[in-house]
This record gives sequence, C-alpha cells and structure tokens, in this order.
Amino acid sequence: MILRSILFISFHFLGIISFSMTFGIESLGVQLPQAVLDVDLLATLHKVDPEKFRIGLGCRQMALCGEKETVVDLAVGAAQKALKTWKGDPKKIGFLAVGTETSLDEARPLSAWVAQTLGLSGNIRSYEVKHACYGGMLAVRQALEWKLSGAGHPEQVALVVAADVCMYPFLHAAEPTQGAGAVALIIGDPLLCSLDQKSYCYSEPLFDFWRPTGQFYPIVQGKLSIDAYCRALYQCAKNFTEEKGLEDFLALDHLCFHVPFPKMVFRAVSLLVHRLKLTEQQTEKILKDAAQAVFWNQDIGNAYTASLWISFAYALGHGTQGQRLGIFSFGSGCGAEFMTAKIHHTGNTPWVRDIQEQLKNRQSLSIKEYEALRKNLP
Ligand code: CAA
Repeated sequence: MILRSILFISFHFLGIISFSMTFGIESLGVQLPQAVLDVDLLATLHKVDPEKFRIGLGCRQMALCGEKETVVDLAVGAAQKALKTWKGDPKKIGFLAVGTETSLDEARPLSAWVAQTLGLSGNIRSYEVKHACYGGMLAVRQALEWKLSGAGHPEQVALVVAADVCMYPFLHAAEPTQGAGAVALIIGDPLLCSLDQKSYCYSEPLFDFWRPTGQFYPIVQGKLSIDAYCRALYQCAKNFTEEKGLEDFLALDHLCFHVPFPKMVFRAVSLLVHRLKLTEQQTEKILKDAAQAVFWNQDIGNAYTASLWISFAYALGHGTQGQRLGIFSFGSGCGAEFMTAKIHHTGNTPWVRDIQEQLKNRQSLSIKEYEALRKNLP
C-alpha cells in the first residue's frame, strides 16, 4: 500500500499519468429485510395460477420490509456488513455514494443517513445517485473512476451502497416481483475482484417506468420497459463485442444482470443470442451462465439498484480465482451499462454464508400478515 502511494505520487509528480492502476472490490456486504412472502400465497390472493409467478415470471419469494424497517436500515446494514469483514480503518473512506430510487428527501442524500449512522464525516465526498435501477452501477463506476483519477488520497477507499425497497399497488401485475435489499461494496484494491476500466453504455430517453415527486408507487409501462431492457442489453453487448470480439464475450465465466424478475433475464438473453447469431452450443452456454446468477434473486424479488449486485454477489461468491464476470445494469428512463471484472479472491467469501443465513432466518408472512403490512401503505 505504501509503495503504491509512493509510486502514485511520483508518477503524478513526473506528469506520467498514463500509469495503469488496477482497482476493484475489497469487501462486500448484503442486507435483506426481515420478512418474506411466498409467491404461491400471493397467487392465491390474486386468484391466478401460481405457475404464472413461478414459471411465467421466475419468482419464488418476495423480500419485504417489516413494519418499522426502511431503506436506511437496509443501506446501513449492508455497509456495516461490508465494513465488518473489511477490517480496514473507516477513516480511510473518502467517498460515499448511495444508488437508490427509494429516496427519503428531495434534497438530503440517502448517503447522509448512512454517514450519520456509521459516524462518517470529514474529508469524504458523500452523495446520492439516481437513475432508477441503474443508480448502483453508476455509483460503482463513479467510485472506480474516482480511484483512477487520483482525486482522493491514494490510500482512501470508496464505500458504495445500492439500496431499495420495491413495492407496487395491491393486485398490480408487478406485485409478485416486489422485493427489497441493499448491497455495499468497498472499492479500492482488487482483493475480491478487479473492475475493468472500460465499460459499454446505452441510453435513450423514455417513459417506461417512473415515479413522479411525492408519489409512493411508480407508473409502469410494463411491455415498454421489457422492450427497452432487451434493446439496451443488445446495444451494450454489441458495443462490447465490436471492440473486444465475440470470442471475448463468450469466454466470460459468469454473467450478472439487473433482475427485475428472473424471467426478464432469460427473455433478454434469448433475444441477444438470436441477434448475435450464436450457435446452439454458444446459446446453451450463455443461457446457463445467465440462469446461475439469478439464484438468490428468485428468493428476494426486485431490489431495484441492489438486484444486479445481489446477482453479482452470487457469481463472485461461487466463482474461482481468475474467472471473469460480465455485469449488465439497466435502469428505466432508460440507461444501461455493461462492464467486466476478474475474480481475485481465493475462496474467502463470508457474504455467501451470511446471505444464506439471512434467507433462512426471515419471518415468513401469511397472507393475513401481508395484508396487514400493506395497510400501512398508500
Ligand atoms: N403458467 C406459466 N406461465 C404463465 C402462466 C401460467 N399459468 N400464465 C401466464 N404465464 C406467463 C406469460 O406467458 C408470460 O410469459 P412470457 O413473457 O414468456 O410470454 C408471463 O407469465 C407474464 O405474464 P403476462 O405477459 O400476462 O404479464 P403480467 O401481466 O404478469 O405482467 C410484467 C408482467 C409486465 C413484467 C409486470 O410484472 C410489470 O409491469 N413489472 C414491472 C416492470 C418490469 O419489471 N419491467 C422489466 C424491465 S424494466 C426494469 O428492469 C426496471 C425495473 O426494475 C422495474
């Protein structure tokens, strides 16, 4: 670390700033809410075939906040978990960004609540990032680019949190896709994985999913949003393959996606393999990779900004050193980005056990309890 600082300062002093540095993730923490509802129970309430939710949408369970639980509890919980396994000095945090679409205030950033609870203040750039479900990826990219730019002290690290609570109106078609959760990442040295500098973006102004100021529930143009997701994935993958080649895309060991509902991933990937004109064998590989990383999402539901990073946490936790990950973020409105990472850890993945424990220890709600919980909502 000291050598890195000396090298960094010397290279800046000499004006040689093309010196390539590799940054990545030092620690990861995931916080799930206390309660859970099986989608079969919701299907009974909706009077629909449970297979529609399980097979049609690919969902198994929805993570739900308890009566007094908020997005702040999730964001802080995830950050505390990341800090606990990191064992570094919190004074080294020089950057704190929270990606969310569950803002509590039009002015005060969610990062201020996180900083307040964690006791973080001083020489820290702290703010909130909003672009629907894309906000988490943007925060990660900004943290990485902050490290690469040398704007902070070389020994400083970034704390990024993606946190959201996703709720839809009672009996809305999207109700079975509800969920909640937060993922925190400490970005600095590539201890768990390195993050590649280059990324591939797509954006297009669209009203597919939005939540006007003061309104509790989003306005959803479901089909439009699905088409936008598919289009964005294709455009990002096209940008990547045009630069790096199709072989490089096919060589990725894990694929992690934003997961509004698991079937969305298969729909978009099926369209992608068709448009990329992949062979049967290549298609099989891509579909298998995409299926693996949504495992936890099926029991959590849509956690908006956090959904991608839950999928990422699964892939990173189940991958081995040297393997490469493809990471695709989509946010309505719409914006998308694809980036790659390489696994550096040698099997030290404390978050895997922790998430399994959290999934096991949640309070399973009955339909009556779910209805009671909803009574507090608009
Ligand atoms: N058994 C098995 N499958 C069944 C079935 C049954 N008995 N009955 C229906 N299905 C299948 C349907 O065939 C359909 O599958 P295909 O898409 O493969 O054809 C699937 O179940 C869904 O059924 P519907 O097409 O009738 O759609 P729906 O009314 O259930 O609504 C939705 C689905 C539009 C996605 C709705 O949940 C929604 O609006 N969700 C919110 C928007 C969203 O998630 N968009 C995703 C992209 S935007 C994004 O990513 C941002 C974000 O996080 C929100």
